[in-house]
Amino acid sequence: MKVLIVYASKHGTTEKVAELLAESFEEHHVQNINIGKDAIPQLEDFDIILIGGSIHAGSIQGKIKKFYTRNMNILLSKKVGLFLCCMEKDKKAWDEFDMVYPEQLKKHAVAHGCLGGEFLFDNMNFFEKFMVKKISGHDQTISQIDFEGIKNFSDRIKKFLPHD
Ligand SMILES: Cc1cc2nc3c(=O)[nH]c(=O)nc-3n(C[C@H](O)[C@H](O)[C@H](O)COP(=O)(O)O)c2cc1C
Repeated sequence: MKVLIVYASKHGTTEKVAELLAESFEEHHVQNINIGKDAIPQLEDFDIILIGGSIHAGSIQGKIKKFYTRNMNILLSKKVGLFLCCMEKDKKAWDEFDMVYPEQLKKHAVAHGCLGGEFLFDNMNFFEKFMVKKISGHDQTISQIDFEGIKNFSDRIKKFLPHD
């Protein structure tokens, strides 16, 4: 079984989450693709495709939207997991999730996750720091990665991976 994780990450949080997911699949063949940097391999070669992005000012990365729009047919023929990193929690996070992934793909997906987020001030530009401070009140790095959520998401995917 081959797993592909396609993610977009502005400051590095979604990348960390994608790496944690990849590690959790242990001996299985996993390829992590940063959609902003790496070439996308042939999707036909994979059995499971996980897609993840983050929310900035209410939207997920356009490259993630393009990826699932252009590849919808093939995605609908695979096992798919969808995840999101953001700083909103609970219902507000799931509202964002609902907004950024299309209905058809959400229905088809075997795993869905709002996996937390971080404000990484060292990686933000002046404008981002200003915006985050104004909107959230935070002015220092804070990490709210949802490790339990990552484990639950990973466990849902593992059900489709063969084990000894
Ligand atoms: C400028 C800016 C705007 C953001 N807007 C939102 C938002 O609208 N909703 C939200 O839940 N989180 C928001 N966040 C939090 C990000 O989703 C969070 O920092 C996430 O961990 C970013 O992941 P990434 O580094 O992989 O891009 C924002 C963060 C920044 C820096």
